[in-house]
Amino acid sequence: MKILIRGGTVVNASGPIAADVLVEGEVIVALGARGSDLAGSWVQGADRIVDATGMLVVPGGIDGHTHMEMPFGGTQSADTFETGTRAAAIGGTTTIIDFAIQSKGHSLREGLDAWHAKAEGNCAIDYGFHMIVSDVDEASMKEMDVLVDEGVTSFKLFMAYPGVFYSTDGQILRAMQQASANGAMVMMHAENGIAIDLLVAQALARGEGDPRFHGATRPALLEGEATHRAIQLARVAGAPLYIVHLSAAEALDEVVAARDRGDHVFAETCPQYLFLSEDDMARPGFDGAKYVCSPPLRDRRHQVDLWRGLRTDDLSIVSTDHCPFCFKDQKELGRGDFSKIPNGLPGVEHRMDLIYQGVRRGELSPERWVDVTATTPARMFGLFPKKGVIAPGSDADIVVYDPRPTRTISAATHHMAVDYSAYEGMAVDGAVATVLSRGAVVAEDGTYTGVPGHGSFLERGLNRFL
Ligand code: URP
Ligand code: ZN
Ligand code: ZN
Repeated sequence: MKILIRGGTVVNASGPIAADVLVEGEVIVALGARGSDLAGSWVQGADRIVDATGMLVVPGGIDGHTHMEMPFGGTQSADTFETGTRAAAIGGTTTIIDFAIQSKGHSLREGLDAWHAKAEGNCAIDYGFHMIVSDVDEASMKEMDVLVDEGVTSFKLFMAYPGVFYSTDGQILRAMQQASANGAMVMMHAENGIAIDLLVAQALARGEGDPRFHGATRPALLEGEATHRAIQLARVAGAPLYIVHLSAAEALDEVVAARDRGDHVFAETCPQYLFLSEDDMARPGFDGAKYVCSPPLRDRRHQVDLWRGLRTDDLSIVSTDHCPFCFKDQKELGRGDFSKIPNGLPGVEHRMDLIYQGVRRGELSPERWVDVTATTPARMFGLFPKKGVIAPGSDADIVVYDPRPTRTISAATHHMAVDYSAYEGMAVDGAVATVLSRGAVVAEDGTYTGVPGHGSFLERGLNRFL
């Protein structure tokens, strides 16, 4: 099957070019200058021509932080691998990296096998796994090396959630030493969980159970403090570090200081921290529960710093931390006690659109949009140049993006298996027109056109920055 994408502007992280793209089978075979004899000669042999006139032709999005079917807070995130990856495809994301979980008392292998079983044969797009390490001991450290050889090359540790995922500083340092030796990336949930638990208990004792107190008990200072501590531990171990879901200026300051020193410290932020705020958590009644995630949504002033961080590359990536729980039945679990509200927001379908608003508002260039949503995730997580770039030899994961339409985000029209949208009523400029995943057209104009099970597991390499 040969597909010709014709008349568009190809935008890679390196910049825009007026070029037609020829896809053969699962890969991109050539780029030809728009209007050239070479590109013109491809029309004859094409099985399908996608008219991209007036549109941007960009690498398929890579969402490096999702939680499909994740057990959490006595329930499970609402999207399965099938529904979540379908929604991702419709929204222009052609790769997800989800988090497999080691349960306490079990091996990394058991956790990884369980996640393979959930995903295999069900995904609309390609997928990889990070591994959450809940028990740092000598056995799990040995297993880390084995997983790296199997293409699971990044490991998340938690400074938050004591009794669940939490690791002590000593355990974190030990895992970082292992990563320093085997080349893996340590990903850190940087919030001081011990201090937060005290604040939560005190708030509940005062009768402060509404969703907004979730934010009040997780102050930005304790994200900054944990980020600082994680960076120092990584320096001691001589390991690279990736801070997940960074939400606060205090944490960003620590990342900036580390990067200015030349440390291998990287960070992602998420659309919810760029567009939503603590005001959403304080919505009347129990509606604020829809916005409960950790770290929590912050004061709007942090957003200025986060956009600046994306421009200056102090923030390298935008991932969603997609972890949807239905308002009815799931978020309800925490009515009257915010600490029982399952943490997480839906977002996998709208990341490309939301960050494109940054382009329209003058916060980011089009190539930086591509960089933070596709190219840097590919390089950071060992997928480049198979993914993250429109170039001969790369997988034909391509999004044809129309900058002209204006749409309104709504739960009534989204495809995620969750009964509300965190961005309900928000008008966005631009729309995903056509999505190719390894040469197959998986979505067109908001409709899924793929075959379930098309997505395959990606064995990832090591980080390409080091
Ligand atoms: O609230 C969040 N972020 N839920 C997902 C789990 C995590 O810590 O990433
Ligand atoms: Zn986390
Ligand atoms: Zn997460």
